[in-house]
Amino acid sequence: MERTLVLLKPDTIQRSFAGELITRFEKVGLKIVGMKMVWVNEEFSKKHYAAHIEKKFYPGLQAMITEGPVVAIVVEAPHAVSQVRKMVGGTEPKSAQPGTIRGDYAQHSYEYTDGKGISIKNLIHASGNAEEAKIEVELWFKPEEIHTYKTVHEIHVF
Ligand code: CDP
Ligand code: MG
Repeated sequence: MERTLVLLKPDTIQRSFAGELITRFEKVGLKIVGMKMVWVNEEFSKKHYAAHIEKKFYPGLQAMITEGPVVAIVVEAPHAVSQVRKMVGGTEPKSAQPGTIRGDYAQHSYEYTDGKGISIKNLIHASGNAEEAKIEVELWFKPEEIHTYKTVHEIHVF
């Protein structure tokens, strides 16, 4: 089993469709094993986005991720990391495939946001690979915040 971190970024929460996006993950069979609302500060942003601190877009990225609360979720499935990335779609909403979350619910382009010096609003963060997922789940969740339980599928279907 794999676990991965999903963040519903401040733009998702402020646009009030957190539930709709969570439903997509539930419907595909990803099991939610941890979930909480968190307001990230600058220090925590630097930990979460450590790989991006030196990049030109980091100031805008930090401003975006600290502008309001996020919902942090850990999901579990045999291929949770790649499954979630597939559903989330490419980083730039303008070129993200229709059917993906970023392709269906957003439209920002690099051209537009880089020109304005703001972060691209793409609704979701999802760990990029298994190694990133392990680090990020440990950064965001204490062991006791991850829950073990059986879904109805595990009890009645499998
Ligand atoms: O989120 P993802 O893994 O798809 O992309 P990333 O390359 O790890 O970048 C992290 C986040 O930085 C993106 O999701 C965007 O919110 C932001 N970003 C940006 O605002 N402008 C860019 N030119 C590149 C990334
Ligand atoms: Mg990334």
